[in-house]
Amino acid sequence: MNRPKAAITALGGYVPEFRLTNQVLETMIDTSDEWITTRTGIKERRILKGDGAGLSIMILEALKDLQEKSGVELHDVDAVIVSTVTPDMPVASTAAFICHKIGAKNAFGFDLQAACSGFVFAMGTGASYIESGRYKKVLVIGGDKMSSIIDYTDRTTCVIFGDGCGAVLLEPNEEGHGIQDFILRSDGIGRPYLKIKAGGSMYPPTAETVANNEHFVYQEGQAVFKFAVTNMAEIAAQIMERNNLTADTVNWLVPHQANKRIIDATAKRMGVSDEKVMLNIHRYGNTTNGTLPLCLWDYQNQLKKGDTLIFAAFGGGFTWGSLYLTWAYDAK
Ligand code: UT7
Repeated sequence: MNRPKAAITALGGYVPEFRLTNQVLETMIDTSDEWITTRTGIKERRILKGDGAGLSIMILEALKDLQEKSGVELHDVDAVIVSTVTPDMPVASTAAFICHKIGAKNAFGFDLQAACSGFVFAMGTGASYIESGRYKKVLVIGGDKMSSIIDYTDRTTCVIFGDGCGAVLLEPNEEGHGIQDFILRSDGIGRPYLKIKAGGSMYPPTAETVANNEHFVYQEGQAVFKFAVTNMAEIAAQIMERNNLTADTVNWLVPHQANKRIIDATAKRMGVSDEKVMLNIHRYGNTTNGTLPLCLWDYQNQLKKGDTLIFAAFGGGFTWGSLYLTWAYDAK
């Protein structure tokens, strides 16, 4: 039996209006535009403001954008997968709320947590549902309100992260375009280096965990950097090799936007030149689950039917992954 491929047929994105620039950060903590730019490539990041404004606000804006640009209906989707580390609430899932808000009465939805690799994991999951033949329309959403879990007195993390979100619709493709292959990996050796210590079942929230700032992201940057720079580059090279792709036949690298130096190392390992690398870290920082769909969002007008895209990501856990897809439509 010929299994259908799962193709992206529509996409949307959203970033909040408020810009937190390096210059403003210079007035908040002991840092400099020069340090942030040379070490990370980031110039500014977006922050979602407002009481009670959670991830779902950004998702609904991204879905509005997706519908306006593509004209597709979403009330008949079969499944909604939200990859995030900052759901609206620990329980109930943000995906269930989104199903309700888009009127998808026959859909199921769930949140998926694989840190910064979440969107690749979610795309792989969505593709498998479609390839099985059981489902026809899967909405894959990646986004985070990182500002809700960042300590703005900690200069080692607060300069890196930002808020944002993107969404894609996956549908079967008769021409064989879409997700061709993916490789996903996890290794719990990374747990000490990138985590939020409290708020889970090991250390439930108490006045003490709050006072100790244990509900914020903790990262040992150098240790994570070493694993990220090797594993993201290697897994991208691996997916190229096993699909007989070369630097010439790859049209786009869609890399997780954690650090410009990690992106450059990945492109170099793949042999891919700079103009084929999607880059927006300077504008949004690291939006965790939002980085990959926001790259597609920013570059959508340059994508052509048949283009070969390689996604690559690395994140806490550790988790990492790469995905190879061919683009299914010309820019509208
Ligand atoms: O997306 C999920 C996965 N995460 C990643 O992939 C992130 C990987 N890590 C990184 O991107 C980098 O490690 C960072 C950008 C987080 C840090 O860059 P680094 O080049 O590894 O810096 P470092 O941690 O080795 O710190 C170098 C120095 C230290 O000072 P001393 O000890 O040399 O005096 C830090 O205290 O830079 C200092 N520093 C800062 N200085 C100015 C750390 N943060 C800042 C800051 N401004 N914001």
